[in-house]
Amino acid sequence: MDDFDLKFPDNFLFGTAVSAYQIEGAWNKDGKSESIWDRHCHEKTGIVRKNYDGDVAIDHYNRYVEDLDLLKELGANSYRFSLAWTRILPEGTGWVNLKGIEFYNRLIDGLLERGIEPVVTIFHWDLPAALQEKGGWANREVINWFTEYARVCFKYFGDRVKYWITLNEIYVFTYRGYSLGVIPPCIRDYKMAVKAAHHALVAHGSAVKLYRQTGLNGKIGVALDLVPKTAGSERSEDKYAAEVANATESFYFYDAIVKGAYPELAVKVLKEKNYWPDDIDEKELKTASEKIDFLGVNFYGQQTVVYRKGAGRFDSEIISANAENVAYDNKPCADDCFKLMMKIKEDTGGRLPVIITENGMGSNTDVVSRQEELNDGFRIDYIKKHLTALKKAIDSGVDVKGYFYWSAFDNFEWNWGYDQRFGLVYVDYEDDLKRIKKKSFLWYKEFLEEQGRMRKGKI
Ligand code: FCB
Repeated sequence: MDDFDLKFPDNFLFGTAVSAYQIEGAWNKDGKSESIWDRHCHEKTGIVRKNYDGDVAIDHYNRYVEDLDLLKELGANSYRFSLAWTRILPEGTGWVNLKGIEFYNRLIDGLLERGIEPVVTIFHWDLPAALQEKGGWANREVINWFTEYARVCFKYFGDRVKYWITLNEIYVFTYRGYSLGVIPPCIRDYKMAVKAAHHALVAHGSAVKLYRQTGLNGKIGVALDLVPKTAGSERSEDKYAAEVANATESFYFYDAIVKGAYPELAVKVLKEKNYWPDDIDEKELKTASEKIDFLGVNFYGQQTVVYRKGAGRFDSEIISANAENVAYDNKPCADDCFKLMMKIKEDTGGRLPVIITENGMGSNTDVVSRQEELNDGFRIDYIKKHLTALKKAIDSGVDVKGYFYWSAFDNFEWNWGYDQRFGLVYVDYEDDLKRIKKKSFLWYKEFLEEQGRMRKGKI
């Protein structure tokens, strides 16, 4: 092991993260129906590079045993994955597809047999196409659809799953899906996005409420993508632009869940621009802010914003970003992670535990060769910097309970398809999807072994 020997709390969750559509493949096997991602990829609507699709992805559905063995070898004590709604309820509601249940039972049992804690995301963007036909997240009924789906998940898996995440990145699947239109359902209607966001928030809270009623004794939270915005200068218009961006993007969802209210500034500007739907009942945020056991934070960076008349929805423009990603800016962002942790501590009086449900570095295959990818020192540096920032946050009193590296395996990276790799394990798309451990896999494994030794040393 190198000299990186920060010691984390004894029961800290160390893991990796994945999601169903990105790895499973088997898109129509054993009764699974089409999700909105299946549908858009099949229709080749041009949102995904080179018209890639997730039909086979990394074929995890058929190769999960080999993948579980790799996770065991890695030695992380937990693993975050998502359930495909379309495998469990092919029509979105109603009859339960037991073949889908059996697959996730095998996966959960396989993890537990290997001493790995399953951390389960109920929804990671792959809405059943059947529900999109009825309006998807923009239809108020989705609150019931999602709650019923969550009920099925709790019923079949709640005896073994002790960590639940309701929704992944509400900002992305509502705003990028319904307003910017860059991911399915590819709609461009901001008012509809505000509605979809509201329904998703209430659906989240309703599932949390339901979980409490079941009497199951696990923990439940949500995973939000938090991208703090800073002003590009001291000029008041730039500062205002940054405040508006914070209020209407990531922190819109954070405030609703953590504080039980939308940021006032967001509501004001949304109303001014006539994006505010008349039928939103803000009192329902009482449900959205139902007490969670942890806040999941997907952390990938920060953005710097300035005022520019006519730009975006609110006269603002992103001029730069701190984001370490070989495809984008590649600027250090671990300090921003520390600052964000401190903000959460201040806002919640340190009472809300935080889990980093995603943090990871992607590399663009146009830029990074196979050899460089396998020998990914850049990824090791990235993880080290973020773990250092988190350790500093823990030492400063932030209750950080876990860290999940995105991702265990290279996979289908949404709009990028297979041209961006985030994994600790390389997947050879040219050679039968062979799994090859990258240098970062071996580093993380050694780091985890060292954590174990330090823990024992203490006893
Ligand atoms: C997040 C998504 C995840 C993955 C990473 C790179 O926004 O939740 O599925 O694509 O980005």
